[in-house]
Amino acid sequence: MLSSRFTSSLYLLSFAVLLQIVLGVDPLFHSCSGNENFTANGPYETNLNKLMGNLYYTTPATGFGLSSIGQSPNQVNGLALCRGDVSSTDCKTCVVEASSEILKLCPQNSAAIIIYDYCLLKYSNEYFFGKIDNSINFFMWNTQNASDPMSFNQQTKGLLSLLANEASITPKMYAAGELDTGGSVKIYGMAQCTRDLSSSDCKNCLDGLIGDLPSCCDGKLGGRVIGGSCNIIYETYSFISD
Ligand SMILES: *[C@@H]1O[C@H](CO)[C@@H](O)[C@H](O)[C@H]1NC(C)=O
Ligand SMILES: *[C@@H]1O[C@H](CO)[C@@H](O)[C@H](O)[C@H]1NC(C)=O
Repeated sequence: MLSSRFTSSLYLLSFAVLLQIVLGVDPLFHSCSGNENFTANGPYETNLNKLMGNLYYTTPATGFGLSSIGQSPNQVNGLALCRGDVSSTDCKTCVVEASSEILKLCPQNSAAIIIYDYCLLKYSNEYFFGKIDNSINFFMWNTQNASDPMSFNQQTKGLLSLLANEASITPKMYAAGELDTGGSVKIYGMAQCTRDLSSSDCKNCLDGLIGDLPSCCDGKLGGRVIGGSCNIIYETYSFISD
C-alpha cells in the first residue's frame, strides 16, 4: 500500500531526484514514523543522540553499524548501512550528514528512515534487528528505454538474482557484477542487505525487490529498488566505484 503511494508521487519527482544525485547533497528519500512524540530533552532524545554518535563512529570501518541504547520504553535501536562500493571516508561523510538531517526532518518521531545515494540510516523505539523491513520500497529509474525490453528485463533479472545469491552468502552481504548481453550493451548491478539479517532473510528480501522490478523499472535501462533492509541497483554503465 505504502509503496505504491510513494511510487506514484515519486514518478513525477524522478528528474529532480536525479539532479540531486548529481549535486550529491539532499536525501533521496525520508520517512518519519513512530507512534508518539517524544519529549524534548527527555531520555528518548538523549538516547537517540547517543545512538547517532555511535553510528557515525562505528559505521565507516566496515560500512555497517548497529546500535541499541537504553531500556524500554526509552530504548532506541538504529542502524546505518553504506553502499558496499563507497570508501570509508565517503561513508562517514554520508552517515554524519544522514544523522544530523534525520533529526531535523523528523524532530520528534520515535522512528524514522533516511536514504542517500551512499548510505541509509534508520532508528526506532521498536527492536527491529533481524526482521525484513517492508515498510518502504522506494523506486527510481533511468528514463531511457531498452531497445528489446523483454530480453533486457530477463537479463537484468538474471544478473540481479545471481547477485542476490552471492550477497546473501558473503559476510558483507554485498555483491556487484556485470553481464555482457551479447550486443554492445553491458548491465552492471549491485545487491546489498543490512547485516542484521540472516542469510536466508537477505535472500528473501532481495528476491522481493527483484519481484518489484516490473512495477519499478520495466524496460528501463537503469533502476533502483531501495527497501529498509536491502537494495538493488542496475545500469548499463559502470556506476560502481572501487
Ligand atoms: C505530535 O506533535 C505534532 C505537532 O505538535 C501534532 O500535530 C501530533 O498530533 C502529535 N502526535 C501525537 C501522536 O501526539
Ligand atoms: C520510453 O518509453 C515510454 C513508454 O513507451 C515512453 O513514454 C517514453 O517517452 C520513452 N522514453 C524515452 C526516453 O524515449
